[in-house]
Amino acid sequence: MNSASPHHFDLSKFPRHALLEGPTPIQHLARLSARLGGADIYVKREDLTGLGGGGNKLRKLEFLIGEALERGADTIITVGARQSNHARLTAAAAARVGLQCELVLTRTVPRSDHDYMENGNVLLDALFDARVHDLPGAANALQFAEERANELRAQGRNVYVCPLGGSSPVGCLGYADCAAEIVAQSQAQNVAFDRIVVPNGSGGMHAGLVAGLVALGLDPSRIAAFTVYGNAGHARTVTLEKANQTVRLIDPGLSVSDDDISIDEAQLGPGYGIPTDNMRAAVRLMASTEGLLLDPVYSGKAFAGLVEDVSTGKYSAGQKILFVMSGGLPGLFAYRNEF
Ligand SMILES: Cc1ncc(COP(=O)(O)O)c(C=O)c1O
Repeated sequence: MNSASPHHFDLSKFPRHALLEGPTPIQHLARLSARLGGADIYVKREDLTGLGGGGNKLRKLEFLIGEALERGADTIITVGARQSNHARLTAAAAARVGLQCELVLTRTVPRSDHDYMENGNVLLDALFDARVHDLPGAANALQFAEERANELRAQGRNVYVCPLGGSSPVGCLGYADCAAEIVAQSQAQNVAFDRIVVPNGSGGMHAGLVAGLVALGLDPSRIAAFTVYGNAGHARTVTLEKANQTVRLIDPGLSVSDDDISIDEAQLGPGYGIPTDNMRAAVRLMASTEGLLLDPVYSGKAFAGLVEDVSTGKYSAGQKILFVMSGGLPGLFAYRNEF
């Protein structure tokens, strides 16, 4: 992508610290498409990002770390659930750029077994030398983070606080940029995608992609999200607000409307981080037909939604669906007993 491309908007005014090596590939899943016998399925390999085990949060962190460094921060604090991929990648990015990192992790998911508490992302958080604060599920993590930041500031430290999922408007710019990348790849590979399917957790990836398509003058309603965190109403409110904040950072004259946001809660199951049979089946299907690894909390549930929609005939043969594979592989080890 360069500024000569017709599918480009200028993000150069925003501080950014490169954490990706370049565009992530889009791949056609021939065996899986044949197995499901409907639409043609492609994946955008957001898991194939090199730092810290990879995953979608690195796109947001390019802008968040950029902002932190510009403000002269020496410490970054973020929040998340115990097995947060965002927390793990924040710790990895902090290690890469030489920031100290503290993670405020809540026991949002009702699990206390050893794998959930210590394996997967938590193991990696420790390797990246992040300090972990372990909070009960009902705790207000962001408030704790702000208080901790003030404590550290009183000791002379310069602290940058990063919100849940890295989904501030500045963080979401990473996915606006990804929308432009997808459009450019779709042109270069000569494939027009009828749908782009994503998981929606804190809503930032979805919001950023919507903002990016709107900024490019393209139809954002082709993005179909499966919420894995809150119900569809909550996810819609959060995503619409973030998408509007993000698109206005790019161009204050632009806006996103309610019709631009499509969110399905069919795969949420009993709640965030709680496995469903559909998720288990989707993770197995992807692994056994394509050798690719989904995660149990986000991409596994969203992919289960895509499989169900193809199987029930929502898509016709020949339609082209792009699934954004967002990473989260370490989560599998925290959910070892589920498979
Ligand atoms: C692997 C993975 N996929 C998807 C998401 C969802 O992204 P967002 O929080 O921007 O909705 C997350 C967020 O934590 C994630 O870790």
